[in-house]
Amino acid sequence: MPEPTRPAVVTGASRGFGRAIATALVAAGMPVVGLARDAGRLRTQQEELGEGFVPVVGDAVDEELARWVLAEHDPRLLVLNAGAAPTMAPVHEHTWESFSAPWEVDARQAFTWAKVALTAPLPPGSHVVAVSSGAALRGSPLSGGYAGAKAAVRFVARYAAEESDRAGLGIGFTTLLPQLTAATDLGAAAAAAYAARAGGVTSGAPGLTPEQVGKAVVGIALDDAAPGAEYLLTAAGPQPLEAP
Ligand SMILES: NC(=O)c1ccc[n+]([C@@H]2O[C@H](COP(=O)([O-])OP(=O)(O)OC[C@H]3O[C@@H](n4cnc5c(N)ncnc54)[C@H](OP(=O)(O)O)[C@@H]3O)[C@@H](O)[C@H]2O)c1
Repeated sequence: MPEPTRPAVVTGASRGFGRAIATALVAAGMPVVGLARDAGRLRTQQEELGEGFVPVVGDAVDEELARWVLAEHDPRLLVLNAGAAPTMAPVHEHTWESFSAPWEVDARQAFTWAKVALTAPLPPGSHVVAVSSGAALRGSPLSGGYAGAKAAVRFVARYAAEESDRAGLGIGFTTLLPQLTAATDLGAAAAAAYAARAGGVTSGAPGLTPEQVGKAVVGIALDDAAPGAEYLLTAAGPQPLEAP
C-alpha cells in the first residue's frame, strides 16, 4: 500500500492568504491541517475543500498546541501565515499594547513553531515557510510594531535554518515577504490607511492576489526550494532576495 501523503499545517487558514494557500495545497494533492481561532469559518473551509482539509481551532502562538499538531499529524510542511491585523495609526497615537500586538502574534508564532520544529524535531526533508512582509524591508509607519515583528519573523527563520544545518536535521526554512495588497481583510485596512495618508493616491500597480500567494507556496514548498531562501512576493511572482 502506498504511504499516505504527509500533510501541510497552515496557520491562519480561515481567511485571506491562508485560505488561498490551503486551497492551493489541497488542489496540488497535499492534505492540509488548517489552524485558526474562528471555528465557523474553518467549518465552511472544510465543507468547500472536503476531507483533504482538517480544521484545528486554536491560537497559533500556543506551544502546547503546536507540539500536539506535530505529534498528531506528522506534517511535511508548516506554513506560518497567521498574523494580527495591526492597528492603523501613526506611532504617537499607539499604546504599547497596540504597537506590540504583531510581536505577540506574528513574531511569537515564528519563534514558537521554529522551536517546536527543531526540538520535536520534524523529520528530515520537512519544510517550514514563514510569512513575513515586504514591510520588513522598508518599515510601515502607520502599523506600529508590524514591520519590526515581520523582520523578526525573517530573522527567526534564518536562525532556525542555521540550527537545522548545524544539527544535520535536514529541515528547510523559507521566508516569504508578500507585497501589501488590498485583497485581504488585513491588507485592505492597511492599504486604505496609506492611501488616506497619501491624499487618496494609490500606487496603481497590479495587486498581489491570495491565489498568487497560494501558487507561490505550492511552487516553493513542493518543488523543494533551496532551504534558507527568502522571496519577495509581488504580482510578478516570487523574486529571490540576496543573502545579506
Ligand atoms: N495582506 C497583505 O497585504 C499582507 C502583506 C504582507 C504580509 N501579510 C501577512 O500575510 C499573513 C496573512 O495575512 P492576510 O492578509 O491573509 O490576513 P487576514 O485576512 O487578516 O487573515 C489572518 C488569518 O490569521 C488568523 N489569525 C490571526 N491571529 C491568529 C492567532 N492568534 N491564532 C491563529 N490564527 C490567527 C485569522 O483567523 P482567526 O481570526 O479566525 O484566528 C485569519 O485566518 C499575515 O501574517 C500578514 O501579516 C499580508
